Amino acid sequence: MKIDVLALFPEIVAPALKTGILKRVQDTAKLTVNLHNLRDWATDKHKSVDDYPYGGGAGMILKPEPIFAAVATLNPRETAHIIYLTPQGIPLTQGLAESLSLETHLILLCGRYKGVDERVRDKLVTTEISIGDYVLSGGEIAALVLIDAVGRVLPGALGDYESAHVDSFSQDLLDHPHYTRPAEFAGMHVPEVLLSGHHENIEKWRYAEALKRTAKHRPDLLQKLELSEEDIAILKAAGLVEPTK
Ligand code: ADE
Repeated sequence: MKIDVLALFPEIVAPALKTGILKRVQDTAKLTVNLHNLRDWATDKHKSVDDYPYGGGAGMILKPEPIFAAVATLNPRETAHIIYLTPQGIPLTQGLAESLSLETHLILLCGRYKGVDERVRDKLVTTEISIGDYVLSGGEIAALVLIDAVGRVLPGALGDYESAHVDSFSQDLLDHPHYTRPAEFAGMHVPEVLLSGHHENIEKWRYAEALKRTAKHRPDLLQKLELSEEDIAILKAAGLVEPTK
């Protein structure tokens, strides 16, 4: 996969590409990330990329010409998936990251100020994506989040061990608690079942903990699932009411 990032501050993205899984997927040629400064496509002598909004109001708008010129250079065969990062986009989810990981070429357009001229969205952008219901000072950090989420699920990115040990329910529920040594720390004990070596009981315990944590923190996720009698019993025993459908 190739990802081109088009931004006013591409240097925000650069450091995170040099470590961990993102470094590994690039080193093994599964992913190429190219960072581009939108200002390189500015046409006037001041290299301006933004201008005042028609109709008045506060804030500046990214001009269409540099963005159209950049995309013409980066996407001559018009085969790329062009993503505009904006709080007005569809939410980035694990499912969306996984489907994007099947693409061969993404162009990530990062907004700044009040965003881009609407003609960019009308003519160039394939998908608008938001990383959450809050406003960042620009799309660069959102682009980095997307690159990370997509990069780590590229085929072969996670080692066999990591992929094989993903719990079967990890897609739908929040994660269960994790512990490492020591078994007792500052008077706090690791749950006995985890020390038992009884794999079936450990899986049951993890599932119940994931279910309870999801009910507590993200009841909206539970509403999408078909809960079994056993699930409902677990939630009731923990004093977490069964979510209404
Ligand atoms: N740009 C500014 N805020 C954003 C957000 N929440 N998601 C994606 N892009 C953004």
